[in-house]
Amino acid sequence: MKLFPQSISESPAGYGSRVHVLPPDVAHRIAAGEVIERPASAVKELVENALDAGASRVEVEIEGGGVSLLRVRDDGSGMSPDDAERAVGRHATSKISCAEDLAQVLSLGFRGEALHAISSVSALTLTTRTIGETCATRVQVLAGAPPERSPAAHPVGTTVEARGLFMNLPVRRGFLGTERSETNAVTTVVEALALSRPEAGFFLKADGRGLLVLPAAADLRERAAQVHGLSLARSLVPLDEVVGGPVWGLVSPLSVSFPTRRYLHVAVNGRVVHTDSFAPAVAKAYADLLPKGRHPAAFLRLDLGPGEVDVNVHPAKSAVRLRGGRSAYPLVVGAIRSALAPEREEGGAGPALEGDADLRPIGQFAGRCIIAEAGEELIILDQHGAHERILYEKLLKNVHGIPVDLTLPIVVQLPADLAPEVWNFEVEFGALGFRMEPFGVEAVRLLAAPETVTDPEGAFLGALEALAGGEDLAKSLACRGSTKFGESLTREEMVSLLKEWSATEFGEVCPHGRPIVKRVPLTDLLREFGRV
Ligand SMILES: Nc1ncnc2c1ncn2[C@@H]1O[C@H](COP(=O)(O)OP(=O)(O)OP(=O)(O)O)[C@@H](O)[C@H]1O
Ligand SMILES: [Mg+2]
Repeated sequence: MKLFPQSISESPAGYGSRVHVLPPDVAHRIAAGEVIERPASAVKELVENALDAGASRVEVEIEGGGVSLLRVRDDGSGMSPDDAERAVGRHATSKISCAEDLAQVLSLGFRGEALHAISSVSALTLTTRTIGETCATRVQVLAGAPPERSPAAHPVGTTVEARGLFMNLPVRRGFLGTERSETNAVTTVVEALALSRPEAGFFLKADGRGLLVLPAAADLRERAAQVHGLSLARSLVPLDEVVGGPVWGLVSPLSVSFPTRRYLHVAVNGRVVHTDSFAPAVAKAYADLLPKGRHPAAFLRLDLGPGEVDVNVHPAKSAVRLRGGRSAYPLVVGAIRSALAPEREEGGAGPALEGDADLRPIGQFAGRCIIAEAGEELIILDQHGAHERILYEKLLKNVHGIPVDLTLPIVVQLPADLAPEVWNFEVEFGALGFRMEPFGVEAVRLLAAPETVTDPEGAFLGALEALAGGEDLAKSLACRGSTKFGESLTREEMVSLLKEWSATEFGEVCPHGRPIVKRVPLTDLLREFGRV
């Protein structure tokens, strides 16, 4: 893993390699579209160039939201005088040379478009020096005019400065946001790039004011702390690397969630990509663990072989596609679920118990809670929520329920709007473990129900609603299945419920993400009683 940053620093794309113009057949294969939409996209391109050049420190400065000035300075490989001049040309790149290279891209850039695009719409000055040269080179381009080259002074590395962005495109300028919103967009872009490369330092100044100070960090967690604060970063749970698995990163535990998706960050082979296509997988992983409207933080990394990822799908290089019709969805869901589950072994959240050895019911409270003891801990458990959780996990494992014949068939009256749907889902109902036969127009007769279900009628109706409305079937079934769960429980029922609950993977919350257990350590009680 982490193969991408490594191979980049081993062979910084800019150094020792020569910038050339791509042959037309290669240039034509590159996803076409607008490269520079706003200052933030120019900053993204320039910072990516710095990273491709092996920079360990990237300084960004903007004025007037990036429109008056944007400047990116790096300590990367720099360019030779000839390369510097060629680099501002169309389709000029050192990163690929032929169509086959396009299938194996390891660098962030590959189109040879960015410098050309920026220099066509601004007054661009590029100053650069390689380690082999004593004198630096300056190349200036005024809004697409031919480049002018002169000697200059500059440490090893490169500074690219663009003034008056969209000077020759007044209409485009009119579409920009306020200075403040453009500045915010630049900040977001630099933060995202910084999260993708903890090992490099990133600094952002706007109108002379320091907005980001992110010195080189030891790892992703430290970078997350710099960007989003220590308390969020500390709470994050590492995704266990499944051996050979491509997904790693950090996600928030169930106890930490947010009202927005702001803390979602994804990098594929070191490239920051739009989170839109990953948000559903993250949402799915937390679907039964967080309340509605709450979102986790997730810093996800996918490291795949360069041949496994198609980077040439979006003009701004902000989306990728896995080759061979592979989907990242199950990989992401699987990695997050297994990272969240072991929480209990560490004695943190989650039922702190292995099996039921240590968990003994004391009794019931108000017909709604089971009171139990586990070693030196008092446990108050929402019996309904616990039952939902148990059913939910059973159903998740086996949506193919085992049908159990009902001793007395049940006639289920169907809601008028759903009645016509019922026979469309005959196969699905069969797989769930229901068997039924027609009974008039708006009813069916249930002959068998899945063994996990305590309320066949409620469960059947819940499943129908879920199937017709495309909701989470397991959640709906679990909820309906347990609604009629008896209020007063026998001791045996309590024992078996506690036993099953303690074996669940996510025993802290019901499938709707509500907490279902309160633990009171004996020491807390004694402290309250003034005994310690
Ligand atoms: N900061 C830099 N340090 C060293 N070389 C650079 C730097 N910026 C650009 N270059 C060189 O200039 C070339 C052109 O840069 P440009 O960003 O236009 O294209 P690219 O990075 O190859 O592809 P893309 O358009 O996808 O970004 C690069 O291939 C690289 O060789
Ligand atoms: Mg580039």
